[in-house]
Amino acid sequence: MHDDRFFDKTLEMIEGGMLDFAMPMLVGKLYGAFGHREGWFKTRDTYRKHPLRAVMMEDPYIARCVTKPRGYAGDAELIDLIYDRTPPETASERGRRIFSHGIEFQASEGVRQRRDYAEKFVGQAFQDGKRILCLACGHFREGDPLIGKNLERIDLVDQDPLSLAKVRSRHGEAVRCHEANVFSYLRGAVSRGEQFDLVYTLGLTDYLDDRAMSLLHRMVKSVLAPEGRFILANFMPNHLAIGWMDAVMDWQLIYREPAELARFADAAGFSPKTWIDRTGAIAWCEMESPW
Ligand SMILES: C[S@@+](CC[C@H](N)C(=O)[O-])C[C@H]1O[C@@H](n2cnc3c(N)ncnc32)[C@H](O)[C@@H]1O
Repeated sequence: MHDDRFFDKTLEMIEGGMLDFAMPMLVGKLYGAFGHREGWFKTRDTYRKHPLRAVMMEDPYIARCVTKPRGYAGDAELIDLIYDRTPPETASERGRRIFSHGIEFQASEGVRQRRDYAEKFVGQAFQDGKRILCLACGHFREGDPLIGKNLERIDLVDQDPLSLAKVRSRHGEAVRCHEANVFSYLRGAVSRGEQFDLVYTLGLTDYLDDRAMSLLHRMVKSVLAPEGRFILANFMPNHLAIGWMDAVMDWQLIYREPAELARFADAAGFSPKTWIDRTGAIAWCEMESPW
């Protein structure tokens, strides 16, 4: 009842032209409710049955995440909406205004800063002539500054053929794209004796359970060259849009603190360095090959 009244009020405010006031309150309400696990599923269910949901679905960022046209949450087209901050022409005026809020949330800014940081270390490794492996590359947007360059020392892996087609359309047919699950790619790379100086992944480990995380670390260790580096980024628990992402976007991630990331690294024999980004939404773990 209490939740229903809150969503009624939010809808009234939006319909009364006060969308910019309603949005922060809604995100805050969902953050608070997410923290009370016993009541959370009820709150989420109430939101999903409420007419407010149809209004939120006018936002193309929310709609794509909920409808999952590629069959999974967080596809590279969706991530491009975050990077480019540009909604499709077809979005309603109200949808665009909702979009302009979500796209500035701490979590969205964290995703943009994640790419920016990767752009730096990938650019440096490229310049140094290192062999680079990107796992779950999506559209490889951190590689934008490398468009037009010879990428023969970079290998890009993703399970989604449409994302790889986009990478080829931007970087040329010669780019080394591998359409594969990262684990089967790594298995093949180990058996071929491949070695990389830099292996990194952004937006993958948030979907991997602990067993898959351990396997990932062990497999990456087997393909790291001496003095090679393995870098990953994982969403932090308790970022401020955590309830919003779960209820409104139907986007569930596996959240991890830096200490948890360090444990996977330690168990695989790496000496990890971990840190939290400036937004507080993303934890980074950087590992050096142990030999
Ligand atoms: C959230 S997007 C991140 C894309 C890109 N790394 C970025 O940061 O912009 C996740 C990507 O991981 C890919 N992916 C998820 N699980 C995968 C797996 N097990 N093997 C290969 N690719 C995977 C998806 O196809 C998608 O392109």
